[in-house]
Amino acid sequence: KKAKMYVDKNFVIDKVDNRLFGSFIEHLGRAVYTGIYEPDHPKADEKGFRKDVIDLVKELNVSIVRYPGGNFVSGYNWEDGVGPKEKRPKKLELAWRSLEPNEFGTNEFMEWCKLVNTEPMMSINLGTRGIDEARNFVEYCNFPGGSYFSDLRKQHGYNDPHNIKVWCLGNEMDGPWQIGHKTALEYARLAEETAKVMKLVDPNLSLVASGSSGWHIPTFGEWEATVLEHTYDYVDFISLHAYYDNYENNIENFLAKSIDMDSYIKSAVAACDYVKGRKKTNKTIYISFDEWNVWFHSRKEDEKVEPWQIAPPLLEDVYTFEDALLVGLMLITLLKHADRVKIACLAQLVNVIAPIMTRKGGGAWRQTIFYPFMHASNFGRGTVLQPVISAETYDTKDFKSVPFVDAVPVFNEEKNELTIFAVNRAQDKMEFDCELKGFEDYSVIEHIILENNELKAVNTEDNPDNVKPHNNGNARNEGGKVKAELSPLSWNVIRLK
Ligand code: AHR
Repeated sequence: KKAKMYVDKNFVIDKVDNRLFGSFIEHLGRAVYTGIYEPDHPKADEKGFRKDVIDLVKELNVSIVRYPGGNFVSGYNWEDGVGPKEKRPKKLELAWRSLEPNEFGTNEFMEWCKLVNTEPMMSINLGTRGIDEARNFVEYCNFPGGSYFSDLRKQHGYNDPHNIKVWCLGNEMDGPWQIGHKTALEYARLAEETAKVMKLVDPNLSLVASGSSGWHIPTFGEWEATVLEHTYDYVDFISLHAYYDNYENNIENFLAKSIDMDSYIKSAVAACDYVKGRKKTNKTIYISFDEWNVWFHSRKEDEKVEPWQIAPPLLEDVYTFEDALLVGLMLITLLKHADRVKIACLAQLVNVIAPIMTRKGGGAWRQTIFYPFMHASNFGRGTVLQPVISAETYDTKDFKSVPFVDAVPVFNEEKNELTIFAVNRAQDKMEFDCELKGFEDYSVIEHIILENNELKAVNTEDNPDNVKPHNNGNARNEGGKVKAELSPLSWNVIRLK
């Protein structure tokens, strides 16, 4: 099979916002306890943070981490997670029906963010709580001192304000499963008034309104329009969430699901711009795609988990090689929308539908999906160029005219490097030719490939390198014409300088 891509250095989509390579830590299952925090672990530091996990998070070069939920946040009292640990209450956590010891809270999270060199993205509870708790929380985190809550932070040992910039106004408030679920209008008014007071405390906040928890939820569109109608002046972002599955075990259809994500983004942008048009304003609302991933492997198992445990094994998807291909395609999709998607969070980071797995008291290892994220995060910073791709297409159960190849080029001006990310959806090898205007004298530094004979191959603690990339690809640049062979069903990273 053959595919072509045309690229011109002058044809730019937009600069990539570094926050596109974000992730998510929720108080859910073993994400926090025995994930990033395990004081008894041999590799824990003096604060209880697992250093083996910190090293892997740093490899991923995660730019922003959303916390503490997710569904969890809609029943959370932030006050329970600050102050002397021995005084913190153990509470029933209703979203995941677990026991929350509150040993880890806001200040611990902020310390951990520094260790992994990432920015925090804090979400507030608009399920069971509202304006008052939100303004107190912002005061606690961001106010320099001399007021009740800022002095409380100082008493807790944090003299300097945390200066958290990005805040999410609740989580998936459109979903009937959400604690304190609301209609669009109920949420819109609460978000508007909460945003207003949060900004009175700290005018520099960047706020994310809670958008649709999925494209196929019946309120999609109407929800965004209503929420933005009320919150437009206060927020910079609206959130989107999407998870894909392969229950039907149909690789052709599964790998086409990034097209669903693409259409979802386009529709959400249309909803934002509809409100922009109605308001006749120059302000543009951006997308925070703050939950995205493959999620389905663990769903049945989770039904059997006993409630009211501390850190039960929940949402522990073991990812296959084919999952890594869809994750790669989703990364390509997000990059292609760099003009409107400015924040994106792979959900989640450790143990819970995550690229990193740990065993309590044991090792930490990379799942298959670790690799495309690591490549995109390390080589995908710069400016996205507009690709024009010509490839054969195929039809599936849910999608028509799916191109066998999807790809995106990112030019990093500072490093003077061009990186092409490409996925071959075909089960045959692909001759991939790229005409690159403005890059005639660049040479290929490396051509990384993630490929495997087994679609269902996984990495485990005992066999952690079963699925891992190599850099023996054959891409070469012949005067502005890059020629590369893309292996059947493969993720490719072609780097030129
Ligand atoms: O990431 C897992 C869950 O998925 C989150 O808690 C929720 O926001 C979404 O439904």
